[in-house]
Amino acid sequence: MANYAEEINKRRTFAIISHPDAGKTTLTEKFLLYGGAINLAGSVKGKATARHAVSDWMEIEKERGISVTSSVLQFQYHDCCINILDTPGHQDFSEDTYRTLMAADSAVMVIDASKGVEAQTRKLFKVCVMRKIPIFTFINKMDRDANDTFDLLDEIEKELGIATCPVNWPIGSGKEFKGIYARNEQAVITYSDTEKGTKEGEATEIPITDREKLEQVIGQAPLEKLEEEIELLDGASADFDLDEVRKGNLTPVFFGSALTNFGVEIFLQHFLDMATPPLPRKSQDNLVDPVENDFSAFVFKIQANMNKAHRDRVAFMRICSGRFDATQEVKHVQSGKVMRLSQPQQIMADERKILTEAFAGDIIGVFDPGMFSIGDTVCLPKSQICYEGIPTFAPEHFARVRQVDTMKRKQFMKGVSQIAQEGAIQIFQEFNTGMEEIIVGVVGVLQFDVLKYRLENEYNVEIRLDPLPYEHIRWIENKEEVDLNNLSGTSDMKKIKDLKDNPLLLFVNEWSIGMTLDRNKGLQLSEFGRG
Ligand code: G4P
Repeated sequence: MANYAEEINKRRTFAIISHPDAGKTTLTEKFLLYGGAINLAGSVKGKATARHAVSDWMEIEKERGISVTSSVLQFQYHDCCINILDTPGHQDFSEDTYRTLMAADSAVMVIDASKGVEAQTRKLFKVCVMRKIPIFTFINKMDRDANDTFDLLDEIEKELGIATCPVNWPIGSGKEFKGIYARNEQAVITYSDTEKGTKEGEATEIPITDREKLEQVIGQAPLEKLEEEIELLDGASADFDLDEVRKGNLTPVFFGSALTNFGVEIFLQHFLDMATPPLPRKSQDNLVDPVENDFSAFVFKIQANMNKAHRDRVAFMRICSGRFDATQEVKHVQSGKVMRLSQPQQIMADERKILTEAFAGDIIGVFDPGMFSIGDTVCLPKSQICYEGIPTFAPEHFARVRQVDTMKRKQFMKGVSQIAQEGAIQIFQEFNTGMEEIIVGVVGVLQFDVLKYRLENEYNVEIRLDPLPYEHIRWIENKEEVDLNNLSGTSDMKKIKDLKDNPLLLFVNEWSIGMTLDRNKGLQLSEFGRG
């Protein structure tokens, strides 16, 4: 076994998913606080002004005051080296948000206790399910009036189709929030509203058997309610089963308040115990073991213009096996080129650190001369590894795009193709009409602005975007067996193709999808394109 096995086994790499405003940023800040990575909470990315300081790589970000990029944070906590993959938290999130999940070994799902499962959580959750990665749920904002706890769990089970197992249980909420009951320890941890930014402080742990003290501290009525709920819970909830958690079938649920820093460290500790270090990953012919194999990585994100002065492109890679040594030559599998990775760096929220080494589980950013595409593999020259591609995620907004000046067709095509190669947009064409018009699909509408901005600024091409009414796209899984010309769809269905001539269907609503499937027996549609 390689002597860096210990380093790799210390790694925990996870993504945080939530609907905007559920408290993802606040929770991340508190995690970092425990890791000692920052002294003051609030320095990850505060709202408004502070956020600009973090990633002002593009004017659009400044104008809108939102973060388009996702960043990676690394910190140490006890014996673990933690990589948090942050995802853009605005409604206008992009395909990058989905791709980030491809680089994570597990996901933390933050839910606002007064809102329950929200739209964006649902979408990101689907990707976690597809990957079968473990999901840990943190139900946040218990210091505010919350929905009924049983209802919240029910909602997660019904809406997301995953069994839940509460690891702890809240006692009241809002002004009546008294703390949590830790089921394993059979003890109540009393709520203390520690100051923003300080570590969890005054909370005390009282065994559930110490009725007298509990009555004093949390009151008689809340205690009786808790006892009832515990009884109900012990009878009704799924048993804790680590195997099921790791297969992504069961989500451990925790309650707390990120803002007042309550329940966060308990969550972090349990999470680190339950989550796995980097696991073997599927290459075309076999499984690549993170410890036994030499260095290998795959590209999950390409970011253009990180540094405006240099118009650079950075490819983000997830290391899947071995140790990365910056002095060593590596092979870009798709082109066969052997080279040294240029300026390998760890991209933190507000700083970039040049790296000399990194390990399986880590994310590195390297300067990309235009060679890398999403899903590409990099490994040692002698290795035979080629990771499976990253699926294409369904865009939800579509527009016809044309250049205003017809003479600029060439630049226009070059621009949209390059931006599509980076994975910021997907481009399609009409199916069999001979029309050359380009249809662009994006996951978040902000990407349309990004496209317009970049074509004007980098390619000197002004464009016109005409929105199309479609919201759903489906890849045809069994395209060899289907005669597309005779497909009987609904009147609002549109046939298109991607640049590799793969046929796809656009729909205005879910109903049309169902109808089309009904009318064409044997037709297999998919929400994910093969990578
Ligand atoms: P996000 O990254 O998921 O979008 O959420 P973020 O952490 O930015 O939190 C959204 C808002 O919710 C923030 O308030 C934040 O302070 C608040 N919040 C987060 N966790 C809790 C919690 O446990 N309890 C309560 N009561 N509030 C919480 P804001 O007013 O939008 O921003 P700010 O001015 O406080 O920064």
